[in-house]
Amino acid sequence: MLPSLPITQIRLPPGMIDLGLGDPSFDLLPLDLLRQAAADCFARRDPAFLQYGLEQGNGHFRAALADFLSRAYDLPVDPDRLFVTGGASGGLDLLCSLFTRPGETVFVEEPTYFLALRIFADHGLQVISIETDAEGLIVEALEDRLKEVRPRLTYVIPTFQNPSGRTLSIERRARLAELAGEYDFLLVADEVYHFLGYTRQPPTPIAGYTQNKNVISLNSFSKILAPGLRLGWLQAEPTLLQRLTGCGLLDSGGGLNPFTSAIVREIVERGGLAANIERLKTAYAPRLAFMDTALRRYLPAAEYARPEGGFFFWVRLPGIATAALRRQAQTHLVDLRPGVLFSSRNGLDDYLRLSFSFYPEAEIEAGLQRLAKCLSKESEQSLQATDKHR
Ligand SMILES: Cc1ncc(COP(=O)(O)O)c(C=O)c1O
Repeated sequence: MLPSLPITQIRLPPGMIDLGLGDPSFDLLPLDLLRQAAADCFARRDPAFLQYGLEQGNGHFRAALADFLSRAYDLPVDPDRLFVTGGASGGLDLLCSLFTRPGETVFVEEPTYFLALRIFADHGLQVISIETDAEGLIVEALEDRLKEVRPRLTYVIPTFQNPSGRTLSIERRARLAELAGEYDFLLVADEVYHFLGYTRQPPTPIAGYTQNKNVISLNSFSKILAPGLRLGWLQAEPTLLQRLTGCGLLDSGGGLNPFTSAIVREIVERGGLAANIERLKTAYAPRLAFMDTALRRYLPAAEYARPEGGFFFWVRLPGIATAALRRQAQTHLVDLRPGVLFSSRNGLDDYLRLSFSFYPEAEIEAGLQRLAKCLSKESEQSLQATDKHR
């Protein structure tokens, strides 16, 4: 029998504070909300949710979700334009399976979500990264590249980006959606942090541009309810959805996650999702402020823009090779994610990603103190960055 370790130690070495981890903290996973929803779902005594599901996803669930999204986005959302996925990762993987061929090109932001790069690699796609600035993807730079290379797909995280925390401006969103039509590529927007704005409400989501047949919005319950649900959705125009609903995977297995969506439906219909998002914002906002203050105190050389939502601080330590820093940090029982992971051209080597989502304030402080120790004068010599790309 396994010894009964605290659950966090199953994934982390004992005593490690992993400030790179972008998971929600265990205390914010809504155990009671899901227990009640599951009990209510079973109490309906309708076994339909244990049957193979409709390819597009259960209609009641999509109606409840569309109602929530219409309010949250302040835009009408049609349940017939929603498609249930196994989370944003599952949605992205399915899109790659159905709309790309090995050897085709994907444009991404520099930096981008490092695990999306893993999915693109699984599909044999060539990745080209496009420069970003404080307002996210530089759309003029994208347009310049489009004149040379035709990507099959462009993947962006427009709001409170992972890892940079940046939000794409409204003007750039509109132009990006236009370019998808003009140059005939699929614009895939991963909007998983859209609802987690603490000091700023984001512009209209890319979901608001999905009347364009080349634009797809991916979203998920992972950051706003629980990642273990493996439940998400995408929003797109009907002809594009037909390609998804008609695919072999769904023909054989039926719609994705009918069991989980029936339970989550109970929560969404009763306003539990909106309430949970408020609860999360109330918990994350002070942690973000705390990490900001602690970074100034313990890592005064750190350069960053204070994020306004999401989970991450994107920190530059000028001249420090953060991949080497990581190895040293791990021996001090603190971890981080080096910038190079988020680069598609082996750059960003003096950046690092820190997250405030997983730990309470005391551990954030202890982790940053340990990191500061690694950056003491002696260590700095051995941590010089050599790569000039960023
Ligand atoms: C930008 C981004 N997309 C997707 C995911 C994964 O989402 P899901 O759990 O819905 O697959 C994450 C999780 O960190 C993320 O940051």
